[in-house]
Amino acid sequence: MSDCDPINVMYGGLEKLGPGDDYITRLMLQKLPRRQFRLVVDVGCGSGRQTLVLARELDVVVHAVDNFAPFLEELNQKARVAGLSDRVQTHCLDMAVLGENFREIDLLWGEGSAYNLGFAAALQSWFPAVAPGGYVVLSELSWLDDEAHDTVREFWASAYPGMGTIEENCQAAVTAGYRLFDTYTLPRTSWENGYYDILRPRAEALLDHADSAVRALARENLEEIDIFQLAGDSYGYVFYLLQRN
Ligand SMILES: C[S@@+](CC[C@H](N)C(=O)[O-])C[C@H]1O[C@@H](n2cnc3c(N)ncnc32)[C@H](O)[C@@H]1O
Repeated sequence: MSDCDPINVMYGGLEKLGPGDDYITRLMLQKLPRRQFRLVVDVGCGSGRQTLVLARELDVVVHAVDNFAPFLEELNQKARVAGLSDRVQTHCLDMAVLGENFREIDLLWGEGSAYNLGFAAALQSWFPAVAPGGYVVLSELSWLDDEAHDTVREFWASAYPGMGTIEENCQAAVTAGYRLFDTYTLPRTSWENGYYDILRPRAEALLDHADSAVRALARENLEEIDIFQLAGDSYGYVFYLLQRN
């Protein structure tokens, strides 16, 4: 594992790499009409908080895809400790080529990862990899109302220009060939507990790190956390529960 990669310095060893919670992963699973799946893929799995929940809850191997090898090493280690090694298979892959590596996925899971391609582009790109009738469960940063403070709008216009409203994302899913059957907005505690409360002191401690890339990443994280405090409920992470046509 590279100890000096800025990504690793900033995020290495974190339990959560984005807003989310084990109980919410389980809640989303309960919303699905069935529990039996043949091919489950967790795309942009990171260090695998939700992968381990899926592996525990579903009696099937979970294929965990990420393009950052140190996160996959962390996941493999955690799976060994949890006695779940036989249910987690990691793949160091670019999510843009998911369809070249998997076919007939009947449950595609992605917490906080579709944004790397853009929500609509990810759904289009992954369409051929998902079986007809297969389920797709993604969480995505989304506008919740149009009341956001100008500073908040300006921050996200630069950090994630493709960020859509819930309505826009639902429409994008339908256009890409999926049926939407539910959405769920994560509570603010899913950002604060185990994520921002750990990230903030870590980022503050890295503000005078020797590597300028680490310092820049630390500043970006602190700015994002300040924006979250300012924003109230104007944006949030939203789960989209979809079924491929
Ligand atoms: C915000 S993190 C979310 C991780 C995890 N799902 C969680 O919620 O804790 C996004 C993940 O996407 C991965 N990622 C970014 N671009 C990727 C790509 N092109 N292909 C595969 N994974 C990618 C990152 O390495 C990171 O682990």
